[in-house]
Amino acid sequence: MDKERLAKIANAIVAPGKGILAADESSPTIKKRFDTIDVASTEENRRAYRDLLFTTEGVEAFISGVILFDETMRQTSNNGTPFPQLLERKNILPGIKVDKGAKALAGFDGEKVTEGLDGLRERLGEYAAMGARFAKWRAVITIGEGIPTRYCMDANAHALARYAALCQEAGIVPIVEPEVLMNGDHDISRCRDATAATLKRLYEALFEHCVYLEGTLLKPNMVISGMDCPRQAGAEEIAEATVGCFRQVVPAAVPGIVFLSGGQSPVQATENLNAINALGKQPWALSFSYGRALQEHTLKAWQGESANVEAAQRAFFHRAKCNSAARRGEYTP
Ligand code: 13P
Repeated sequence: MDKERLAKIANAIVAPGKGILAADESSPTIKKRFDTIDVASTEENRRAYRDLLFTTEGVEAFISGVILFDETMRQTSNNGTPFPQLLERKNILPGIKVDKGAKALAGFDGEKVTEGLDGLRERLGEYAAMGARFAKWRAVITIGEGIPTRYCMDANAHALARYAALCQEAGIVPIVEPEVLMNGDHDISRCRDATAATLKRLYEALFEHCVYLEGTLLKPNMVISGMDCPRQAGAEEIAEATVGCFRQVVPAAVPGIVFLSGGQSPVQATENLNAINALGKQPWALSFSYGRALQEHTLKAWQGESANVEAAQRAFFHRAKCNSAARRGEYTP
């Protein structure tokens, strides 16, 4: 394992003022996003949309890495450059989603386990040769009556640890993503308990599997009220709960925490990240790896029309810049 290389990549991704664009929507997920603007999810439309995002001028000041889906990794820009090379030339690191999705966990109603370990070593080798510098694996933890169970958290932690070790063997930085979903009417303290329990088990599994933490990044949910909870915690409360929870369970050796947006509105996701960073210096850099929160306004501006590409790029640039400011706790709406 080339520890120095791994730590260098992980630190570059969370360099001051920078974060990740998650553009790794699988084909069914990007179809859902395109449905909201009435655009057909054809291979060419998906390529044209990703081209718009990646060629946005100046966005490299705020975006250090982009997570790609397998299809996008193999596509080329309008000018014929393969997307991974296009990004690399802008000093943006290309990453790849390597999990095969969260599937129902047999015997555990309402819970999921992420698949994709079979053949992963070979796939990582191919992605590394194509230029991938980091990877992502998303586990899903659901809050509900009697769940999450200990078994579900352990099964997902085990898969994340096996994935992370294989990535490091291939010279790829693993982003470990245990997402505790916002769905439900639970309050923020339940989210905190479930997040703490999930992370505790995750770091135990990573330790057991001898994963080099300095060469990893964590992509978690924020500690937040369930979407249908009657009392919605504000940004300051979310920030205190999130940082308080992480200080108890995330080792200081981890260079950075890159939050997912998970259904928060674009402005909320920025405000919450801002409040988190406004609390002052922590053992890890606190950044973003947003999908929806970086793309919602962009998609709306685009509408699938090439005449709207510039307006869509302005929307993307603006959100990226706002989240960059939030990394310093200096965002103003
Ligand atoms: P959201 O920010 O839309 O949650 O997407 C981030 C992601 O990569 C989820 O796996």
